[in-house]
Amino acid sequence: MKIGIIGAGAMGSGIAQIASQAGHEVVLTDLSEDVLKTSASKLAKIMARLVEKERVTSEEAKAIQARINRTTDLESQRDCNLIIEAVVENMDVKINVFNNLESIVSDDTILASNTSSLSITSLAKNCRVSNRVVGLHFFNPAPLMPLVEIIPALQTRDDIPTLLLELMKAWGKSPVLAKDTPGFIVNRVARPFYSEGLRILDEGLADVDTIDTAMREKEFRMGPFELMDLIGHDVNYPVTESVFKSFYYDPRFKPSITQLKLVEADWLGKKSRRGFYKYEEDGTRSFFKIDSASDIRYSIAERIIAMLINEAADAVFWNIASVEDIDTAMTKGVNYPKGLLKWADEWGASKVINIIDSLAQHYGDGRYRVSPILREMARSGDKFYS
Ligand code: NAI
Repeated sequence: MKIGIIGAGAMGSGIAQIASQAGHEVVLTDLSEDVLKTSASKLAKIMARLVEKERVTSEEAKAIQARINRTTDLESQRDCNLIIEAVVENMDVKINVFNNLESIVSDDTILASNTSSLSITSLAKNCRVSNRVVGLHFFNPAPLMPLVEIIPALQTRDDIPTLLLELMKAWGKSPVLAKDTPGFIVNRVARPFYSEGLRILDEGLADVDTIDTAMREKEFRMGPFELMDLIGHDVNYPVTESVFKSFYYDPRFKPSITQLKLVEADWLGKKSRRGFYKYEEDGTRSFFKIDSASDIRYSIAERIIAMLINEAADAVFWNIASVEDIDTAMTKGVNYPKGLLKWADEWGASKVINIIDSLAQHYGDGRYRVSPILREMARSGDKFYS
């Protein structure tokens, strides 16, 4: 199977590397010669490091690089069987890329999109052969993160998700199936990690460092503020905004004005040396301190985790994905210390319900709504994993 990749930025280059490591001939196309050159030199560095660490032999490293053909000529995609686009996150640009490809490739070629937020069904509708279009969502950095979300559109041929599940396993990935709904699995279920942290900050209950520390104590690799600073507010805020709009302004997904202000100030996080933290020349970081009760970290972490579990449970309730796939998505895509539904079983549904109901009573806000599936479980004693 010959693999085509469109867009040689961070994601396209990473996906090309994975496909080539799995033994495929790869054609990597970008508009810019310079981008293609940078992509090649970055891969050369990565391969040199892997040889040094004895993860691959120098012959293998050479072969992996040689299997990737880089070109600005879209015609070179002609005999690819699967083409994955990773161009900018813009529906019109993506439709244009797929339409151009459709005039070149055979009608059997699968056209996959690495989009994080756009509707696969709309993308498919705008293609001549709609039933070959599918979502194939990798996580950054693609060669290191095992998760791949496979998202069939309404129109997608039945055999394509199965074929991609097998292919992704052969590439050493952990694929999951997700319904074509806003945010798919990860970008939906992870929203409370950021938004609940922001609520706690906005209310002045604790400062960013206290909240981050609380989550690290629960074995998350990073807390919400250091993670948002790392992702960049220009990336994280629009995802929150897009999920909020796509869910018809459900208060559960409401973005934070505090984060909007950072975007407006161009304080985009670590890359601009200023976000929630200020990053000093010497590698240290400072933040605006506020006094909070000494035992607050425990209740902060429980509140954020309860909201995450509720979101994951609700994704089960709405048939977005299976219990196993939701847990795989959060552990293999964003490194959560534990599957959220496994966590729900350990805590018991009643604990989550008590935390969220008391927040609902306190705020009187539609944002704190317990998923019906948790109430049902509390009544029946059922668990996600029996
Ligand atoms: P990027 O900006 O690093 O790379 C995009 C590349 O596409 C650029 O090199 C650009 O020259 C090229 N390009 C633009 N229009 C093109 C066209 N018509 N034909 C050929 N090449 C074209 O972007 P990045 O971060 O790699 O993201 C790509 C896609 O992957 C987006 O849809 C993004 O939402 C998605 N994604 C990004 C993740 C991330 O963390 N960066 C994670 C998962 C998905």
